Amino acid sequence: MIHSDCGNGGTHVGEREFCQVAAVVPAAGCGRRLGAGCSKALLDLAGRPLLWHAVRPLVESGWLDVLVVAGRAEELDRLEEILAPLGALPLEIALVPGGAERSDSVRAGLVWLSAWTGWTPGVRRLVAVHDAARPFLSAALWRNLVLAAARDGAAIPGYQTIDTLKHVDAEGKVVATVQRDGLYQVQTPQVFEFEPFLAAHLEHPAGSPATDDARIWEETGRPVTLLPGERINFKITTEEDLLLAELLLRGRGGVDADWPRL
Ligand code: CTP
Ligand code: MG
Repeated sequence: MIHSDCGNGGTHVGEREFCQVAAVVPAAGCGRRLGAGCSKALLDLAGRPLLWHAVRPLVESGWLDVLVVAGRAEELDRLEEILAPLGALPLEIALVPGGAERSDSVRAGLVWLSAWTGWTPGVRRLVAVHDAARPFLSAALWRNLVLAAARDGAAIPGYQTIDTLKHVDAEGKVVATVQRDGLYQVQTPQVFEFEPFLAAHLEHPAGSPATDDARIWEETGRPVTLLPGERINFKITTEEDLLLAELLLRGRGGVDADWPRL
């Protein structure tokens, strides 16, 4: 639960004193591009599963009331083991079976949340969706996204495309150079006001290949605030990303073996 005046400069969170924050972490993919043969959430990164790295900044912030992880049915036991050490922390944790597409997994988490009995009546509700495959979310970015979503209804991180973009045909020949102005690459966590986001998701057809949640929100005509993302908050998609993540963590002196401190 976050209270007003929790931001650096005493940012008020809406008109209410506080709001409750939930997170849905889709972890039910099968890492096809990485050739993982299992969800990337289970892969080892510097001695800890990727899921551990992904949820840590959310949980450690103290701004999370409930965490729902969506996993593949055959991996739920393993995910439960990974999450078990967080069980003593002051937040609720749930595991749900995911679906065929990422958006189906997110919806499964949202449906679970819609029946959660821990919501406090009359208090604003926010939900963040964060990929299990992003190990480098910073505490500052997380906090800024929650505050912006509390103010504006929806907030996502992104950064302006850096490299020049080309249209290339099937033969590998450049067709055109794409105007890059105003083009952003977006990341997670994406944070939304819970009820309208749930409604938008429920209206969305199952099996939709939408790879980000803001799109589902945008289709309702509601605005989305984009905050400066961090390039280091990249998603592990290929073998090369995993190698890069290992190198980055080694450069930082490895993982903090003591977390969670209970
Ligand atoms: N995800 C999910 N359910 C799915 C597909 C994806 O929960 N049916 C999750 C992944 O586990 C990951 C996040 O969504 O945490 C981002 O998706 P992506 O990077 O595409 O992961 P995968 O789908 O596992 O990878 P690939 O597309 O290479 O198979
Ligand atoms: Mg995928």
